[in-house]
Amino acid sequence: MKLWYVVAVGTLVWLTPVVAADPTFNKEVAPILWKHCASCHRTGEVGPFPLLTYKDAAKRADFLVQVTESKQMPPWKAETGYGKFAHERKLTEAELATLKAWAKAGAPEGNAKDLPPLPNFPEGWQIGKPDMILEMKEAFTIPANGRDIQQCFVIPIPIDEDKTVAAVEFRPGNRSVVHHAIMYLDSSGIARRKDEAEKEYGYRAFGGPGFFPTGGLGAWAPGTGAEQLPEGVGKYIRKGSDLVLQIHYHPTGKEEKDRSQVGVYFTKKPAEKIVGGIGLAYTALNIKPGDKNYRVSTTTEPLPCDVQALSAFPHMHLIGKEIKAWAETPEGKEIPLIWIKDWDFNWQGSYYFAEPVKIPKNSRVKFEAVFDNSSENPRNPSSPPKTVRWGEQTFDEMALFGIQVITDTMDDMKKVMRMRGAALGQLLGSSPPPNVKKKGESDIPKEGFIIPERIKAIASQYDKNKDGRLNEEELDNIPDFARDQVIDFLKRNQPQPKP
Ligand code: HEC
Repeated sequence: MKLWYVVAVGTLVWLTPVVAADPTFNKEVAPILWKHCASCHRTGEVGPFPLLTYKDAAKRADFLVQVTESKQMPPWKAETGYGKFAHERKLTEAELATLKAWAKAGAPEGNAKDLPPLPNFPEGWQIGKPDMILEMKEAFTIPANGRDIQQCFVIPIPIDEDKTVAAVEFRPGNRSVVHHAIMYLDSSGIARRKDEAEKEYGYRAFGGPGFFPTGGLGAWAPGTGAEQLPEGVGKYIRKGSDLVLQIHYHPTGKEEKDRSQVGVYFTKKPAEKIVGGIGLAYTALNIKPGDKNYRVSTTTEPLPCDVQALSAFPHMHLIGKEIKAWAETPEGKEIPLIWIKDWDFNWQGSYYFAEPVKIPKNSRVKFEAVFDNSSENPRNPSSPPKTVRWGEQTFDEMALFGIQVITDTMDDMKKVMRMRGAALGQLLGSSPPPNVKKKGESDIPKEGFIIPERIKAIASQYDKNKDGRLNEEELDNIPDFARDQVIDFLKRNQPQPKP
């Protein structure tokens, strides 16, 4: 079979044979596997077997074709053509055809002198020595078998003034068990207390971290490199904050230990622009058992200013099937953000755009999410299926989406930070500066608001005097952006006085 690939540049047209007639491992296949697979498929990495040598590849040649044709590998969930991303993981049609032709011909090894030298895979920090290394204080033990574990580790940040961060690199201690990590900030001390209350190192948390984060440093999944922000842009860390590292561990069949690290690179001078977040969620989920196609959508209020989106973070749990997010301009134009047609909780993470995406003032950010709560869904954690609502547990669901944004001016950022979804956006990895909102609201009742059942798990942690209410002083301990929304929620959910 001969396949010709047409490349047009201006008026010049070349005809380049891309799939050799008889591809061999040494000549054509090895470079494909090294480029697209070996980052995860080599010893010590997350892939279940190495794909470096002829022996590694030949014995599973048909399997390699199957998983690449079905787009299961390399894992990349975002739909091509809907949003343009940095570090997209994808084989070209020609590379796919090469693998297929090679497997069909019986996986020939070829001539030894055709084999290029094995590339140098980076060891150590990818972008040089960090200014600050935050490390788990001890190793955490992951049992051989059992369910996946989501564990939060609280690591104090040793800075004596507020700082802005230009880049962050998460380095898993043991790549074979670390599936993904989310880096929250907490300056309220709540995460510390949650940690101290547990016997083992850290505390369990399936969905969110169990408190209102005061910022975030981003997320990591296998194959993600260091997160570097554009020049002049930074994430804000308040002094006295803790890093709360939430790690998703996947047992490997033998007992494993992990001690992960986060490298932080500060901006040379204080950042001119701070990363903020816009988030939106559909919390009124009520997914009936057997419903294969439960569909929800939601929107933000109109944006108060122009923004530029740096990254997108979609989030659902196990029965989430599809999620699509976009911005709609006042003229009704659709700006694509991300579309994942085959959601997989195990491959979630932040998607960085190749170029910041401009979204004009008065646009709305929207998403639509689809869930499959039938027994045919192999990922359904409940058998038989049961009614699913919003919550933090494995068998609960979430439908949320956030973008990290920058704005032209700090004043604009303050407007973004007062949007209803700002707290959520922050939870998903941005770090706004403190004190955007003036403290002390006149309409907080002196005795405080009664805490409704629905938010008890989180809100009662802020109830210092344990009277079942949140007064002004207690509300002041909630981060500014979440605080606005908590007050709003409390106001709307107080018991009505008897007529
Ligand atoms: C970003 C990391 C990553 C990259 C890149 C990657 N893999 Fe994988 N691969 C995994 C992980 C992790 C698994 C284990 C199954 C899972 O969690 O999805 C896996 C599983 C597999 C499997 C077994 C699938 C099964 O159903 O048991 C095959 C075959 C495979 N990969 C081939 C490839 C090939 C071929 C490439 C390159 C074209 C590739 N992988 C690139 C991480 C990766």
